[in-house]
Amino acid sequence: LRFVIVGGTAGLGRALAERLASEGHELVLVATDERDLRALAAHLSILYETAVELVACDLVDPTGSAAKIVRAVDELRLDGLFIVAGLARDNDDGTLAGQQLADIIAVNLTSAQELVSAFLPRFLSQGYGAIVGFGSIAAVRGRGRNVAYASAKRGLRSFFESILLVTRDTGVEVQFYELGYVATQQTFGRRLFPPPTDPARLAEHITSKLGSGSHIGYLPAYWGLAAIALRFMPAGLFKRIST
Ligand SMILES: NC(=O)c1ccc[n+]([C@@H]2O[C@H](COP(=O)([O-])OP(=O)(O)OC[C@H]3O[C@@H](n4cnc5c(N)ncnc54)[C@H](OP(=O)(O)O)[C@@H]3O)[C@@H](O)[C@H]2O)c1
Repeated sequence: LRFVIVGGTAGLGRALAERLASEGHELVLVATDERDLRALAAHLSILYETAVELVACDLVDPTGSAAKIVRAVDELRLDGLFIVAGLARDNDDGTLAGQQLADIIAVNLTSAQELVSAFLPRFLSQGYGAIVGFGSIAAVRGRGRNVAYASAKRGLRSFFESILLVTRDTGVEVQFYELGYVATQQTFGRRLFPPPTDPARLAEHITSKLGSGSHIGYLPAYWGLAAIALRFMPAGLFKRIST
């Protein structure tokens, strides 16, 4: 099979690329940094003897990026789309404005909407295709940091809930994972509880669920309980523990 991984060169996206290539699948990797893309494509194609295509684009331009990715895979069989890339900023404290704010919304929300709009007609007409998206535990409840990021991820969940309904009774599979802490650049050096999960472990779980049907849930699953606790926690207590 062949999968597009948007944000496939680092963190969870890279772990998914490694996992899918090791299972013999072909890949189309998307990221901004062309050198990283070339290095990883060479590594994966040599190690696993599989075909890896590259698309360098910046999701701060969601429409242009989606069009470029669609063009790159026009002639290729395609079995699924992983939309993994995200953008978080340390100064996202409720005062972000202008281009910085627009970039956060574009990378975390609008680009996923553009990509799904671009690929869904193709998946519906071919009668198969997986669309996998990633939200965040940060979106469970409004908070004092990652303010715009959390709002974009909340919107993303709503979007995936809708796409799941739109594709019901079709061959298209829609999966959405609300992620807890993952051991990537985003969490590097931060003291977090529970400790961040190894992205390779998450990738193994996520790829094992391909073909199991549409679903939305937390990953690791214990974050589902944590989300309920966080949502109903008294405001004063939430403010104190909110990271
Ligand atoms: N890490 C966590 O603890 C955590 C927790 C909850 C949810 N999440 C969510 O889980 C997903 C994966 O997170 P992650 O920490 O593994 O990775 P990430 O840092 O969000 O994404 C890394 C990948 O995305 C690409 N990328 C980033 N910005 C891009 C842009 N503007 N255009 C195109 N590609 C771009 C990067 O390549 P380039 O640098 O070359 O662009 C890289 O391949 C994200 O959606 C994130 O929001 C993460």
